Amino acid sequence: MTPQDASIKTAEVCGLAPVVPVLVVNDVAHARPLAEALVAGGLPALEVTLRTPVALDVIAEMAKVEGGVVGAGTLLTPADVKAAVAAGAKFGVSPGATDTLLDACEAADLPLLAGTSTASDVMRLLERGYTVAKFFPAEANGGAPALKAIGAPLPQMKFCPTGGISLKNADDYLSLSNTLCVGGSWVAPNDLVQKGDWKAIEELAREAAALSR
Ligand code: 3PG
Repeated sequence: MTPQDASIKTAEVCGLAPVVPVLVVNDVAHARPLAEALVAGGLPALEVTLRTPVALDVIAEMAKVEGGVVGAGTLLTPADVKAAVAAGAKFGVSPGATDTLLDACEAADLPLLAGTSTASDVMRLLERGYTVAKFFPAEANGGAPALKAIGAPLPQMKFCPTGGISLKNADDYLSLSNTLCVGGSWVAPNDLVQKGDWKAIEELAREAAALSR
């Protein structure tokens, strides 16, 4: 998959809803009901981070949920890419971008939302042919003002900022011309997941899905 085709795909994923939930799931039994609640609430694109031992099984379970588009986050190595594709991930997300990781995703036909945090990061991805990226960690990097400033000289790159975003500040990003959607964990807080309070999570998703962009 070319970087251009990958960018078309990641733009489609980012276009599904204003928020992509970033999920850290510790129990495979939570996968189906959690994905069902988020999709029912209007958030079909889901990022499952590869940060728990069961993450690949969680992706496989969530991939069965109708209406969901499940991706794998925290991709760091070619082995991660291979495992994510085998589990059924439809897109990948990484905190940064190395040539090794980009090569692996392109070879595996996995559209990657690669992480950037500086103008040079963005320029490197643009040189390679990518026009959609993650901005991470968004708040710690200067937040929406920083992303807006990067967009002045580099308007051709569109972003999914992630890291420190919540219902309170999501609008600051979503109102920018270079932001397609935001990523965040706030729609699936750990305490609600542990309690199995899927109704409350569906409500948080609904609130997030109603954000305008
Ligand atoms: C992460 O690193 O887990 C994601 O960027 C989500 O960050 P958040 O928990 O601040 O939403």
